[in-house]
Amino acid sequence: MRSYTLTSPAKINLYLEILGDRPDGYHELAMILQTVELADKIDLRSLSTEDIRVRTSNPQLPTDNKNLAYQAAALMAAEFPEAFAQYGGVEINIDKHIPIAAGLAGGSSNAAAVLVGLDLMWKIGLTQSELETLASQLGSDVPFCIAGGTAIATGRGDDLSPLPSPEDIYVVLGKYRHIEVSTAWAYQTYRSQFGSSYVVNKQDLDSRAAAVHSSSMVSAIVHEDKEQIGQKLHNDLEKVVLPNYPQVAQLRQAFQQAGCLGTMMSGSGSTVFALCESQSQAKQVQQQIRTSLTEPNLDLWLTRLCSTGIQVLSSTR
Ligand code: C5P
Repeated sequence: MRSYTLTSPAKINLYLEILGDRPDGYHELAMILQTVELADKIDLRSLSTEDIRVRTSNPQLPTDNKNLAYQAAALMAAEFPEAFAQYGGVEINIDKHIPIAAGLAGGSSNAAAVLVGLDLMWKIGLTQSELETLASQLGSDVPFCIAGGTAIATGRGDDLSPLPSPEDIYVVLGKYRHIEVSTAWAYQTYRSQFGSSYVVNKQDLDSRAAAVHSSSMVSAIVHEDKEQIGQKLHNDLEKVVLPNYPQVAQLRQAFQQAGCLGTMMSGSGSTVFALCESQSQAKQVQQQIRTSLTEPNLDLWLTRLCSTGIQVLSSTR
């Protein structure tokens, strides 16, 4: 029996701008994505049968083909039938720490870990770019999750340009357990409210997407200017999520008042994050949120920006 254990970290959006519609029904985006240390652990174990099995520590998660990790294994089996036949099926154990439906790409990261792990287990030898191409079939955020770190993401979110990762920035994540925002709902609502301002001309779209490369956020990241990184956080989806989810708006305001480098909602929410210049500032922010919002359903995590994506922790042959 062969096995691989991998880390599967979460991401936050330091920047998310919606530029326009795409012919495939998705949106043209200009984003800056950032891995954080908060991670799930994925165990892959070979099976003697040609089955794909998923087990997870979170009973809320599906274990059938609705789970993106299952879909990643099914995609690898379909793309590489000889390796699947030779090495057999796989049992995927997901030890869940990243909150689900949170705008933190937990499911996307799990799928990325399965692609990376099966590539190794089945000795296929895919390049990072080949892994990213497969990943884009599973979801817009999955390609980024492979190498992680810090990257500009344009197009559907899968056209990636790596950036240097800022060091020593601590992050407090806050999420109400009972508030899950549908990503599809957030984008549809944004389209119905702001679609009339979308860029329609291909040339304008390209130049708007290119503009993120020379944006003040990229400059702040390259110069490791923590204050500016905090000040230049941006997420267009806040315009539709915050008015519809007053508790998320209240959490966002509480973070704002807690004295951090900057605060923003991640992806389509409902997680709100605060960037902090030190671990002690992050602890203070966490404490202040706990005091100002005496809400039993609010979970808080203290984590850190991270410069890597999926990592192999151990393997047996
Ligand atoms: O790609 P993924 O399945 O993660 O996207 C989830 C949903 O988010 C899509 O169904 C779509 O409604 C929306 N989306 C979008 N434009 C993007 C990425 C996601 O409209 N670039």
